[in-house]
Amino acid sequence: MRLQSTISRLCEHHELPADDYQALLTTDDAESMAFLHNEAQRVTENVFGRNVYIRGLLEISNHCRNNCHYCGIRKGNSNLHRYRLSKSEIIESCMIGYERGFRTFVLQGGEDPAQTTDWLVDVVTTLHSKFPNCAITLSLGEKSYVDYERLRLAGAERYLLRHETYDPIHYAQLHPEEMSRDRRLQCLRSLKSLGYQTGAGMMVGSPYQTVDNLVEDLLFIQQFTPEMIGIGPFIAHHDTPFHNFPNGSPLFTLRLISILRLMHPHALIPATTALATLLSDGHTRGIMAGANVIMPNLTPAGVRNDYALYDHKAGYGAESVEGLDLLRAELSKIDYTIKIGRGDYSPTCLFPSPSPVGKRKCG
Ligand code: 5AD
Repeated sequence: MRLQSTISRLCEHHELPADDYQALLTTDDAESMAFLHNEAQRVTENVFGRNVYIRGLLEISNHCRNNCHYCGIRKGNSNLHRYRLSKSEIIESCMIGYERGFRTFVLQGGEDPAQTTDWLVDVVTTLHSKFPNCAITLSLGEKSYVDYERLRLAGAERYLLRHETYDPIHYAQLHPEEMSRDRRLQCLRSLKSLGYQTGAGMMVGSPYQTVDNLVEDLLFIQQFTPEMIGIGPFIAHHDTPFHNFPNGSPLFTLRLISILRLMHPHALIPATTALATLLSDGHTRGIMAGANVIMPNLTPAGVRNDYALYDHKAGYGAESVEGLDLLRAELSKIDYTIKIGRGDYSPTCLFPSPSPVGKRKCG
C-alpha cells in the first residue's frame, strides 16, 4: 500500500506538509484510500462513539444581495420565487424540530438586507429564551464585527461561514468583484475571536479548482482549526453562469472528509446535503468516511424547494425533519444511532475506548 505511512503520520500528528496532502489527493491507489477511510472512521468512533449529531436546518430567506457565480439564490437569478420566513414561522418550525428531538437549530439564509441585525437579534433572543437547552447556529454570510457581536450576545453560539476557497484568485473566479477572499477570512477571524464555535469549508470540484487549491484549503483549515468543517461537492444550478460546469465528485469529497477528520479528530463534520444529493447513500458513506453530523431540513415545506442553491437539492425523506425515522433506519444499518443533545464541540475525548486501539492517543 503506497500511502500507508503518510496516512499513519497524519493520524498521529494531525498535520502534513503540502506535498503529502498533494499525494493523498492525487493517488489512485484504492488500498490506500480504503485505509484512509478506515482510519478516519476509527478515529471518529474513538472520539464520538457510534453516534451522529443532528441539526435542524431552517432556511430563513432566499433573498440575497450577492451574486456568487455558483449559487442558485444569487441576486441575478430572476427566475426564482423569493421568500423570507417571519419570526413566528421560525419559532413554529423550531417547535416542530424540538418535538422531534432537535437540540440545535441552524438559521441559514442568503444575505438578506431586510432581515436586519435588529430583527435577527430579536429572533435569536426569543429562540434562546424559548429553547434554553438548545444551541443556535447562524449561517447568514458576511456581517460586521459589531453585528456578529450583537448576535453572539443575543445567544447565538455557533456560526457557519465557508471560506469556499482559500486562493484569492480562485475566490475571484467564483465570486463577483465586490467580494473578496480577504474579507471572508476577516469575518472568520472575527467570529472566532467573539467565541463562536466557527465553521469553515469549501466546495469540492468547483469550477477552475485545482488540486493545489485544495491543498491550500487543507493547510488553511489545519492552522485555523475551525470547530466545524462543512464540505460538499459543487453541483451546477441551471440559472447560474456555471450551469455548464460538471458537478464535483462525491467520492473525492469523501476522501477530503477523511483527511479533515484525521487532521481534526474532534471537529464537527457533516455529511452534507450536497453529498446526499449526488449519492443516494451519502449520509452513511459520509459517516463511514469520518463525518459525525447530519443536518435534516426543517424549512416549511411550502418554500423548501425555493431555497435552491443547486439543482435537485435533497430536502425530503432522510434529508428532512419528517424523515427522521428513515434516517434512523439508514444509520442503524451501519450500527450508528442519532444522539439527542446539543452536540457541542469539545476538545477532549468523549468516548475513550478500553480496547488496545482506543488506548492510543485520543483520536
Ligand atoms: N453547489 C454546491 N454547494 C453550493 N453552495 C452554494 N451553491 C452551491 C452549489 N452550486 C454552498 C456554498 C455555501 C453553502 C451554504 O452552500 O459552499 O457556503
